[in-house]
Amino acid sequence: MPARLDPPIVLIGFMGAGKSTAAEGLAAALGAEALDVDRLIEERIGKPIERIFAEDGEPAFRDAEERITLELLEARRSPVLALGGGAVAHSRVRAALAGHLVLWLDIPVDIAWERVRGSGRPLAGDRTSFARRHAEREPLYMSVADVVVPAERSGDAAAILEAARGMPAETKLLWAAAESGEHPVHIGRGLLGRHRHWPAGVDGRRFLVTDANVAPLYRGVIDPVAAQVTIVPGEQSKTVAHADIVWNELAKAGMSRGDVVVALGGGVVGDLAGFCAATYQRGVRYVQVPTTLVAQVDSAYGGKTGVDLPEAKNYVGAYHQPAAVLVDPGLLETLPDAELAAGYAEVVKTALIAGGALWESVRAGADPASPQTVAACALTKLRIVERDERDAGLRQVLNLGHTVGHALETVTGYARYRHGEAVGLGLLAALRLSGLGELRDEVAELLARHGLPTTLDGVDPDAVVLATARDKKRVGEGPVPFVLLERPGRPVAGCAVEPRELIAAVRELAR
Ligand SMILES: NC(=O)c1ccc[n+]([C@@H]2O[C@H](COP(=O)([O-])OP(=O)(O)OC[C@H]3O[C@@H](n4cnc5c(N)ncnc54)[C@H](O)[C@@H]3O)[C@@H](O)[C@H]2O)c1
Repeated sequence: MPARLDPPIVLIGFMGAGKSTAAEGLAAALGAEALDVDRLIEERIGKPIERIFAEDGEPAFRDAEERITLELLEARRSPVLALGGGAVAHSRVRAALAGHLVLWLDIPVDIAWERVRGSGRPLAGDRTSFARRHAEREPLYMSVADVVVPAERSGDAAAILEAARGMPAETKLLWAAAESGEHPVHIGRGLLGRHRHWPAGVDGRRFLVTDANVAPLYRGVIDPVAAQVTIVPGEQSKTVAHADIVWNELAKAGMSRGDVVVALGGGVVGDLAGFCAATYQRGVRYVQVPTTLVAQVDSAYGGKTGVDLPEAKNYVGAYHQPAAVLVDPGLLETLPDAELAAGYAEVVKTALIAGGALWESVRAGADPASPQTVAACALTKLRIVERDERDAGLRQVLNLGHTVGHALETVTGYARYRHGEAVGLGLLAALRLSGLGELRDEVAELLARHGLPTTLDGVDPDAVVLATARDKKRVGEGPVPFVLLERPGRPVAGCAVEPRELIAAVRELAR
């Protein structure tokens, strides 16, 4: 591959993320050499970083770090530059990153700690301050990153570069990597509306699945299409009967293994079209193009596809990762207020699971439909899926609020509450069961402010409790495991809940 010197690639990330090694891998893919800023600082000052810290103090190191990083960024001499972990803390460095392709190697704090503890690095001595620094830096990395790559699965440098080089300005690329494979997630206002972006490498004819509300608004953002299947909008279409219609339409239109299904719509279209793609000819590729807030912050990621049965929600389905996800928050401008509100419940759920900067911004009133919030929610989910694609443990935390939420949807025949509305009510029950009364009140206020219901109206709470027994997470005849919260950022899956506590938490909603 010929060397591509423009724009230069800059690697950022916390200590232990493996920036130097990744920089060498990227540079090799470009036939060039990488520069490591920490090594250059050591050369210039004439001693290792540990000694600079010990003999001159951290402020002296930071001064040198800022000066030398700025110099290297401005010189644009190297096609691949690995910055020190703290370089993005300097506002002048963040400003100087404009015009570079900034790639954040994202590493979970526990893994970073395992990699560097006992290494003698100056800031890797104490677990608590290490974690605090990690949490402080995360929003800085996210704010400047063009591309976010999970540090543990940063394998396919050429594919990441191909996806990154083709993306429009002002968009972010989150590299989704899980056990079953990797794919790009492009997020940015104008990505589809203005740019009509299509991911590099996803070839074949496009078979569009959408619904009757979305089709007239956005059919044109995917062009060209070989055929279009349009379903009736709403949860009532997420059935085996509708999957049957889609399979048959695809077959009649001549779709083959080399083609690709495009799911353009909300979570219903995404789940149904994804399920059809997972099963049609034993599995074809599909691209998620989410157009609701629920889908942009949650359902388009992670590869869970499926349909409902009258008995219970999402009871038939398959894990099938998309080939790409294209997210344009600009498409949310036509979304009715009630649908935006339903998506807000998923934003609050995700923020409670993530804790840290995302929760702080949501509780402070951040716009849930902004590209920043959408990307932060997407990243939260992708990180979890990366570590547990098939729901063996960790992924279950994403079901916070869903046990009661799904039961509520089932007993009301999927017609009374939007999915997000039911999740909002389920969150309130989960927070009560978690013993977090104050947080429950705060969340209820946030939900109410966004026009979401915080009480059950005309629904028998005891029927809801009975329906929780059909939750898919239940094993055999055992109790239904709940996801509870210790505090924002600390969800715990698999919790046993006393029946009387569950009854009280659901009845409280009916007051
Ligand atoms: N697979 C997963 O991991 C996952 C996660 C969360 C939710 N879900 C599923 O998602 C579904 C809910 O998704 P949803 O809330 O997006 O519902 P939805 O797909 O029914 O969309 C809601 C409504 O908005 C309309 N709409 C969509 N985009 C629009 C736009 N840009 N402008 C105007 N109208 C638009 C739709 O036609 C529909 O009437 C549920 O079935 C839920 O189980 C799946």
